[in-house]
Amino acid sequence: MLNFSAPQSSDEPVDMLDLASYRTPHRIVTAELSGGSAVLRWSDGRVSQFHGIWLRDNCACPACRHPKALERRFLLIDEPGEIAVKEIFLTVYGDVEVRFAADLAGNMHLSRFSAAWLREHDYGDEARAERQHQPKLWSGISGFELPSFQYKEVMESDKGLHAWLAAWKDYGAALLRGAPAEPGEVVKIASRIGPLRPTNFGTMYDVITMPNPNASAYTAMALEPHTDLANWQSPPDCQFLFCVANEAEGGSSVLVDGFSVAEEIRRTDPETFKILSTREIEFRFQDDGCDIRRRSRMIQLGDDGRITAIRFNNWLRTAFDLPSAEVESTYQALLVLWRALRNPRFYVRPRLAAGDMFILDNYRILHGRDAFNPNTGRRHLQGCYVDRDFVLSRLRLLER
Ligand SMILES: [Fe+2]
Repeated sequence: MLNFSAPQSSDEPVDMLDLASYRTPHRIVTAELSGGSAVLRWSDGRVSQFHGIWLRDNCACPACRHPKALERRFLLIDEPGEIAVKEIFLTVYGDVEVRFAADLAGNMHLSRFSAAWLREHDYGDEARAERQHQPKLWSGISGFELPSFQYKEVMESDKGLHAWLAAWKDYGAALLRGAPAEPGEVVKIASRIGPLRPTNFGTMYDVITMPNPNASAYTAMALEPHTDLANWQSPPDCQFLFCVANEAEGGSSVLVDGFSVAEEIRRTDPETFKILSTREIEFRFQDDGCDIRRRSRMIQLGDDGRITAIRFNNWLRTAFDLPSAEVESTYQALLVLWRALRNPRFYVRPRLAAGDMFILDNYRILHGRDAFNPNTGRRHLQGCYVDRDFVLSRLRLLER
């Protein structure tokens, strides 16, 4: 005897038990079964294929997905026999209903999928390429100006917060202006996004000159463009740098889009790019309280060859520990990268005024500063970090 497990077929809009809001201007024109897969033809001509096992695994009925936890309950491993789609229909709402063939125990299952959810989860090449976030690369020569936002908009409206974080996601850097130039304000702003990420410098650090500095940042020296905490296994990824006072002579900031620089090296000097993206060098921080070390590539790539991170920090770079035959070529590669980071074609030089703040992607943007003369006025910056997961989560919540 055949038993239908929940849900029963009905003509109601499908609840995918997913809090994100999915919308599509396109509708499904035909739904057909082909070789065990559902083949959907959309009003814009796109054809999407969903395998039977994928559809069964992603059923959102309350038996397969917990209606409160919104997490998968379905145990694919316990399914007896092959999963096969028997029939497929379009509902009056334009959603898709899938009837699976009876399994070895004689149970049948019916799953329903909203058209918009399927469109968003289409795993065809074109759809996946469309969903891939494309960072907007920039350089100084392109006349790029940092996207700039007002403190009040960001702190008082969700729309303002969304625009600011979206700019960080696209450009890796954005400016916030007009905040009260108070110590601790950086924590208030960052906390609007998520909890702060502590490091060996605490949850918030002060960039001031210190009589006995344990880091180069706490001197008045120029700082070469760098990414922070390159010596950590997972350096913090979203950085906030707030200006409480900037009255000293010098001390202008330098920002470089490391992805732009790396892409240019890939294009013009593939051998060097290969060295930078395959050889690991060691970074280290030491003081009385810690000794944190990590070997890492200066350019990190994803499986698809996309650049995922840049790690460069001259004062944290420690002695190369490489096969002898690789030492000289690694130095050459390091210098190619370093010269590009110093090349005025790439950088922008914004000067932070009291109450201004950078939000930076520490996996992409390198920051530095000119030397300053501490005898000519006060210079006080404060910084903190929030994990990328919280930033992207905040963006998604704002998009719901
Ligand atoms: Fe830094």
